[in-house]
Amino acid sequence: MEKKKIAILAGDGIGPEIMNEALKILAVIQRKYKVEFEYKHALVGGAAWGKYKNHLPEVTLEVCRNCEAILFGSVGGPVQEQNTEKWRGVEVNSLLGLRKAFGLYANLRPAKLYPSLSFASSLRKDIAEKGFDLLVVRELTGGIYFGQPKGRKGQGDEEYAFDTMNYSRKEIERIAHVAFRAAQKRRKKVTSIDKANVLTTMVFWREVVDNIAKKYPDVEYEPMYVDNAAMQLTREPSQFDVMLCGNMFGDILSDESAAIAGSLGMLPSASLAESTFGMYEPSGGSAPDIAGQGIANPIAQILSAAMMLKYSFDMPEAAEKIEEAVEKVLNNGYRTADIWQEGKKKVGTLDIGQLIAENIVT
Ligand code: IPM
Ligand code: MG
Repeated sequence: MEKKKIAILAGDGIGPEIMNEALKILAVIQRKYKVEFEYKHALVGGAAWGKYKNHLPEVTLEVCRNCEAILFGSVGGPVQEQNTEKWRGVEVNSLLGLRKAFGLYANLRPAKLYPSLSFASSLRKDIAEKGFDLLVVRELTGGIYFGQPKGRKGQGDEEYAFDTMNYSRKEIERIAHVAFRAAQKRRKKVTSIDKANVLTTMVFWREVVDNIAKKYPDVEYEPMYVDNAAMQLTREPSQFDVMLCGNMFGDILSDESAAIAGSLGMLPSASLAESTFGMYEPSGGSAPDIAGQGIANPIAQILSAAMMLKYSFDMPEAAEKIEEAVEKVLNNGYRTADIWQEGKKKVGTLDIGQLIAENIVT
């Protein structure tokens, strides 16, 4: 049987608990489809710090290099400890480190408002009830996050700090292709987010994307300024299908999309390299306040595993079966605490994982 090697980086907080539920689901997939997964566990974040004094030790990178995909939990510690040695910089070191090390330039962040969960959305009721289903395609290894030079100079009143935003034609083109190809498999619309009325990099961004758009005549294309897009998301999110963004704007708009979708505990993400290699992680954080209580919502982690099947292992059908099982369990009224509502059945992490596993029908 074909063996697929997966690096399991559960990380901190609720990471290990929700990861176990994703592994439960993958066990079902192994049985039902003719695949075998081989898991290589490695430490990352605060969990790695204790042993290696490093949030992303070389041993962990080596494990990942020997795998075909990374399934990532979450990293981060309690707010009140954020300035301790163990936790300072943990997210930047772990996440940006992995993104750079593996060239994970294409970040896919679907945000979908499940009709049964519209009450959890931060949107006004009449807007939420219309629902939405969008995909943020965020460039992840360029832009102002990684641009050089960056730093701090001078002293006293003269002290200043600077970051640099730059984008090359190649960087813009490859992420634009990802967005247009994704749209072809969805509702065939790309909204490219920029700030071409002010920033030179964004004038260039629009110019390059305009040209790529011509290669996809079957996809509706619209450029939009980022400030307008932020507003449109709260007014009429159903107008969006694929939102193509640079690194910084994608960071911001994907959080906004998550908030209007209701629960962070529901949203998966994929960060893809040019090969089939990818890293898959829930959009929510490590939630240390509820870690170890068995109440965390594992759905984002489970759906991240589904994205891994789809993008790294070319198993779109298995991925769909998992998504259907999640919907079915929600429709049957089962909810973890974060998405619970009067009249619904409140269940814990293990139970909802089990229910989803049982509802995978092939
Ligand atoms: C994200 C996070 C990261 C980012 C931080 C934690 C480095 O906000 O994945 O969206 O800004 O990319
Ligand atoms: Mg973010």
